Amino acid sequence: MNPFKYGCVVEGEYFCPRPALEKELSRLIASGQNIVVQGERRMGKTSLVCQTVRNMSKFKLLYIDLLGIRTLDDFCRRTTSAIISLDKRKTFLTSLIDLLKKIRPTLSFDPMTANPTLSVDISATSQSDSIETILDAIEKLSQKKNICVVFDEFQDMLYLDNANSLLALLRGKIQFQPKVPYIFMGSVRNSMTELFSNSRSPFYKSAALFDIGKIDDEDFIPFLKDRFKSGNRKIDDQTIKKVIELSGNVSGDVQELCDALWSVTSDKKEINENDISDAIELVFARESKSYTPILSQLTKQQLIVLKSIANLGGENPFSAEFIKASKISNASSIRKAILRLVNLDILYQNNGCYKFSNPFFKEWLKRQ
Ligand SMILES: Nc1ncnc2c1ncn2[C@@H]1O[C@H](COP(=O)(O)OP(=O)(O)O)[C@@H](O)[C@H]1O
Ligand SMILES: [Mg+2]
Repeated sequence: MNPFKYGCVVEGEYFCPRPALEKELSRLIASGQNIVVQGERRMGKTSLVCQTVRNMSKFKLLYIDLLGIRTLDDFCRRTTSAIISLDKRKTFLTSLIDLLKKIRPTLSFDPMTANPTLSVDISATSQSDSIETILDAIEKLSQKKNICVVFDEFQDMLYLDNANSLLALLRGKIQFQPKVPYIFMGSVRNSMTELFSNSRSPFYKSAALFDIGKIDDEDFIPFLKDRFKSGNRKIDDQTIKKVIELSGNVSGDVQELCDALWSVTSDKKEINENDISDAIELVFARESKSYTPILSQLTKQQLIVLKSIANLGGENPFSAEFIKASKISNASSIRKAILRLVNLDILYQNNGCYKFSNPFFKEWLKRQ
């Protein structure tokens, strides 16, 4: 069995404990604080928050994934179906139907799983009534057993028509629920920062900021070593460090490269740095079909800038050295090219440094 998982939320033995973050997060939750959890994609936001709440015996996790919502109806349906999965008992269902009666819930059963599902009809109620009904229901339910509400990919609220007024309604309700901790999660590259740090946003300064970066080496290295061990391999610290570096310190990418490293080596093998190139080749074989279409969207100049950043690093792409090495005539052409590369989400900016969204694409480009 492959001991690595990526591209999904990880828990249990697949989750590397992050004691310092878990402690701070659970302290905030226990005090009823609302929290914005932000960080780059695949860093481990969702896994960390879900694992932390699950470890808090006093709280039930109400997890609502807002990815891809486009209407208020979507929001209401996602939220009510998360609520219904909180408790399987019939009494709970009955009281939930009563709490939601304003938005006319109808109960049905999934023919495959026999799980109950609630559909609601918000067409007859005003927008404020439907948000109010659902949030009141959450508060009522949390009086019996504490609930920690998690809105994941919260930035997608911005896609709704009248986003600002809906956000204002939501914020208006949430601020009168001091005992219920709400967690808003999203990737910093999307508009999360805008939502919570722009003074014109209804959510401005409404929650404690909680940033998630890379997993600390002292937690991650022993964890990964142990995972290799459970997959019948041995690996030294130096090789793991190299894997983490090649994966741009992104948790999900580290696991992807470890998965490849495990796949290209055999049982009882002592893995060393020489095995990494085979693993990288396997990643390329799996992914490179998606690399070529990226290149076809770029002009010659943009491609030169991208390759230069892959080779020289993105710390200082407007410096004289960079201009000289890339053979591009001036900084403003570089600026223009980078703007487009960022718009295409090929690069992103982090603490003044330009980084590749996909660290393996960077490695691939360096070899072209
Ligand atoms: N604590 C962790 N331990 C081990 N792997 C992790 C951890 N957090 C994240 N990962 C890796 O990153 C991937 C993405 O995690 P996820 O929680 O979905 O990140 P995000 O929500 O930030 O996009 C997981 O599939 C896993 O491979
Ligand atoms: Mg996530």
